[in-house]
Amino acid sequence: MEFYDVVKKRRSVRAFKNDPICEKSLARIAQSLQDAPSACNIQPWKFQIVFNQELRNKIYSCYTRPWLKEAPAIIVALADMDKCWKRLDGRPIADMDIGIAMEHVVLAAAAENLGTCWICAYNVEEMDRSLEIRQPWTVLAISPLGYAASAPAPINRKPITEIFEVIN
Ligand SMILES: Cc1cc2nc3c(=O)[nH]c(=O)nc-3n(C[C@H](O)[C@H](O)[C@H](O)COP(=O)(O)O)c2cc1C
Repeated sequence: MEFYDVVKKRRSVRAFKNDPICEKSLARIAQSLQDAPSACNIQPWKFQIVFNQELRNKIYSCYTRPWLKEAPAIIVALADMDKCWKRLDGRPIADMDIGIAMEHVVLAAAAENLGTCWICAYNVEEMDRSLEIRQPWTVLAISPLGYAASAPAPINRKPITEIFEVIN
């Protein structure tokens, strides 16, 4: 699929079929993750694609929207807060690194006709505890992964003139 078509097609999906996920698609998504940039190329991430029902139940207990249960898999994006590069003021850059990597995964999934939805609105400590993730690792984002059961409703975007400026 052409890049701009993928970008246009990607939307947050919150309704899923229970169809099995194509393994070749998973391999290409993994490749897209490997190609993601990171500060100093540290790649302070690990992405888990969770099919295991017991683990999925633990994730649901931290983010209880029913639509999350529909997806056959959940992506868990983990960051290494120690190893990641630190800004000059000492703040870890992990949010940005994992954000980029996650978007590689999300766009690759869209190219594979797989739906995703960024999820960050959970208690991070509770999620880490529930999944037995130990410091310096932490779960910075999760997403369902599966084939969309319905198309998301049209969405409004800010006008380009408001968000993009060319300054000569
Ligand atoms: C960093 C980030 C965190 C998000 N967290 C959540 C979330 O916790 N729950 C949710 O339903 N959607 C979440 N979203 C999805 C946004 O609501 C969605 O991207 C936005 O409404 C635009 O819609 P679109 O993704 O279909 O273009 C998140 C998106 C981003 C980028």
